[in-house]
Amino acid sequence: MKVLVVGSGGREHAVIRKLKENTEITEIICAPGNGGIAADARCVNVGATDLEGMLKLALEEQVDFCVVTPDDPLALGMVDMLEKHGIACFGPTHDAAVIEASKVFSKNLMKAYGIPTAAYEVFDKPEEAMKYIRYRNSYPAVIKADGLALGKGVLIAADEKEAEAAVQEIMVDQAFGASGNRVVVEEFMTGPEVSVLAFTDGNVIRPMISSMDHKRALDNDEGLNTGGMGTIAPSPYFTAEIADTCMKEIFEPTMQAMNAEGRTFKGCLYFGLMLTPKGPRVVEYNCRFGDPETQVVLPLLKSDLFTIMKACHDGTLADVEIEWSKQAAACVIEASGGYPQKYVKGYEIHGLDENGQHEGVTVFHAGTKLVDGKYLTNGGRVLGITSVADTLGEALDNSYAAVKEIGFQDMHYRTDIGRKLR
Ligand code: AMP
Ligand code: GLY
Repeated sequence: MKVLVVGSGGREHAVIRKLKENTEITEIICAPGNGGIAADARCVNVGATDLEGMLKLALEEQVDFCVVTPDDPLALGMVDMLEKHGIACFGPTHDAAVIEASKVFSKNLMKAYGIPTAAYEVFDKPEEAMKYIRYRNSYPAVIKADGLALGKGVLIAADEKEAEAAVQEIMVDQAFGASGNRVVVEEFMTGPEVSVLAFTDGNVIRPMISSMDHKRALDNDEGLNTGGMGTIAPSPYFTAEIADTCMKEIFEPTMQAMNAEGRTFKGCLYFGLMLTPKGPRVVEYNCRFGDPETQVVLPLLKSDLFTIMKACHDGTLADVEIEWSKQAAACVIEASGGYPQKYVKGYEIHGLDENGQHEGVTVFHAGTKLVDGKYLTNGGRVLGITSVADTLGEALDNSYAAVKEIGFQDMHYRTDIGRKLR
């Protein structure tokens, strides 16, 4: 079995590490991959959104199975294209990926099928969005660009002035391009946030172990929103009782709703949840594994990932046992100074061995490249330093001990990942 993994982040590295445990797989190719992934897979320089290039690669290499991991190629229909040419994939089709690619679609889906989420309205004219925000006169106001925006399309306005600036940025200045042609204005919710990734084949849905991301750039949840600065799993907030409620009110109904819409979702469906005083609510759906959530969730998977992925494709997930470790995992992201805004690339990373690893932890590579045997920084989020241990405290201590030994110029990381949960 030859497997192609599309993408280049820490999430893809975590997927590849897990796939490597399968003995049926003879080779893993990653496109485009990165410096550290190259120690675990053969990296080929085809961009993740290059549909034609990816098809050509998959056909030339005669791959048996393709894992399409990032949102953009999924939203562009990479799975449809590969499957049309007989290549089995893990990941949703274009029509199912819309659950992430359009917030207007996902909000309307939730409303139509009674899935709990924040109350909202949709606008395609900036003046009407502002008229509504003024009329509601309730702050913070949450303003979201409809389309994909690298996780930055959600603005939370503390007052009318900030709301005006947010509407201006998204709809008029088009900071996120056409993604801001429409906005969702929604109710502000409070409560702990939990990420639940779930495997589904459209017949059954199997939640993975829960996790918690830390999205803001700075300690104490200050600073700008990022792709995620660190994660822990499982989330102590996600009790068995809440899991039950979510299964009945959110996970199953979402899978059924997509079926009813003729958009059967196969792959990994990500539920961004907020545990509000009124019960769990959906903040967002993603049509893929979360990053860095995957970097703590997959290391706790005891079953074979490839078997599960094939079952999601084949529609036989009901027959597969999925077992999770009772341990805990922590991931601390080492980012380039300045991320999520401007940052410099190309600094040498110290503290890694020739395989890009470090004793006692697993180093998932995101923005790195390997040049003349040296690992260099090559992106905003550079490394995910992950540990698994019997307790969350121990996992955090291990990861933070390694963070002190692995680094580069201007490195930035949060010192409080999981601190409140230890
Ligand atoms: P999203 O990209 O939709 O996950 O939003 C990014 C972050 O904004 C979420 O992780 C939340 O912390 C916050 N957020 C989004 N929607 C709401 C809401 N309705 N109320 C409060 N916070 C929100
Ligand atoms: N960590 C959040 C995401 O993957 O969207």
